[in-house]
Amino acid sequence: MQVKNKIVVVTGAGSGIGAATAKHFAKLQAKVVVSDRKEEKAQKIANEIKEANGEAMVITADVTQFNEVENLIQKTVAHYGCLDVIVNNAGIGPKTMARTADYTLEDWDSVIAVNQTGVFYCMKIAIKQMLKQKGGTVINIASLAGLKASMNNLSYCASKFAVVGMTKSAALEYATKNIRINAVCPGYTESALLDKLLAVRPDMDELLKSVIPMKRYGLAEEIAEAVVWLASDTTKFITGQTITLDGGTSL
Ligand SMILES: NC(=O)c1ccc[n+]([C@@H]2O[C@H](COP(=O)([O-])OP(=O)(O)OC[C@H]3O[C@@H](n4cnc5c(N)ncnc54)[C@H](O)[C@@H]3O)[C@@H](O)[C@H]2O)c1
Repeated sequence: MQVKNKIVVVTGAGSGIGAATAKHFAKLQAKVVVSDRKEEKAQKIANEIKEANGEAMVITADVTQFNEVENLIQKTVAHYGCLDVIVNNAGIGPKTMARTADYTLEDWDSVIAVNQTGVFYCMKIAIKQMLKQKGGTVINIASLAGLKASMNNLSYCASKFAVVGMTKSAALEYATKNIRINAVCPGYTESALLDKLLAVRPDMDELLKSVIPMKRYGLAEEIAEAVVWLASDTTKFITGQTITLDGGTSL
């Protein structure tokens, strides 16, 4: 897969799918900006990449803060000269699972701010740069929850449906500008996000696995491989698509 020397920003890269994605890009000789709102986590992943002879730098950014996202892209371009790929991965779930009538305003606001508005901010600023340099690729990490209903999880589901809609709409807008925009929709994948859910509801472990035809969770590395493929030059004619990696759950 052709991603050698591409300049890649991964948000939320301090953990889980983002960390695996940053490492996979670096393994294939891309130059990776490891970004997270938590500097320590990002630094740990960047160090692991460097120890494996990859190229990485850390730029801290909270994607809910427009000025921090601007700074992320500005610093990337100042350092590397351009931005070939952005992976909008930073995401959170609600603190509590509840039906709509009981859903807290805090869980609504916080999840929409990161998962939806954060992706908008990153797309807006990254695409502006990609227009200047006449090309680039955006990969948004949506979810199976962006394609199908999920109970007790309204803001998460709403935010991920929004990410799918933003992906398709923006892909249409920039199709003639050499800017491809796609989304990846993981099903249940081993990560801190899933651990948090299972910590609150340990009984869900068996239940979730029972609805996955492959009877196991996805691995962050498996999602990372699809992201890198979408960013590579092997997928030049793919835009506005969602790729679902869910062990068959959506079937
Ligand atoms: N794990 C799953 O089962 C699963 C399934 C479908 C989709 N996803 C999506 O994949 C993405 C990654 O999730 P994960 O499972 O790897 O979670 P994770 O909790 O392991 O990692 C998320 C990372 O995002 C960072 N982050 C959180 N808020 C941020 C903010 N405001 N600005 C910048 N960084 C921020 C965190 O510090 C963390 O390092 C998310 O968008 C999530 O919704 C995950």
